Amino acid sequence: MSVHYLVYVSQAARGTTDATLAEIIAASQHNNPAAEITGVLLFVPGRDSQVGSFMQMLEGETAAVEALCKRIFADPRHHTMVVLARGDRETRCFPDWAMALKRAARGEVDDHPVLANLADTDFVDRLACGPGARDSVQLLRDFWDAAPLE
Ligand SMILES: Cc1cc2nc3c(=O)[nH]c(=O)nc-3n(C[C@H](O)[C@H](O)[C@H](O)COP(=O)(O)O)c2cc1C
Repeated sequence: MSVHYLVYVSQAARGTTDATLAEIIAASQHNNPAAEITGVLLFVPGRDSQVGSFMQMLEGETAAVEALCKRIFADPRHHTMVVLARGDRETRCFPDWAMALKRAARGEVDDHPVLANLADTDFVDRLACGPGARDSVQLLRDFWDAAPLE
């Protein structure tokens, strides 16, 4: 049986703090198991005046993933969502995580030039329109392997 997945990026709202991230993860870990959703949430701190960016992968049954995505996209804690990839896979990428948070540190992001530019409109244009969108799942997995888990 295949599993549906969705990957998006968004910009964190002003006022996002560690407490905000902790609240989001707590709600996710509370809600996702019942909906049989797994995935990862990556937070990349912004440069200059940018607050930061999110990149999240949700995976599970199609209706469950799409319903959760709708709820998440209505959340005022972020904006400018762009879906990079959605589709079906044979197996889950992150079967063990109801939702795991990774926070990218500056040095780690430097090793991933694509992610370092997550907050640039340029990045969104590039990934949303270009061949990069196809690579977003791989990119998330590479980053997952490289960066420490919180
Ligand atoms: C970037 C981001 C990612 C989120 N991811 C999830 C998630 O995976 N699962 C979830 O239930 N809520 C997630 N949320 C929170 C939802 O938008 C919403 O606040 C929450 O599901 C409401 O749950 P509650 O009714 O139990 O409070 C996320 C929010 C943001 C801003």
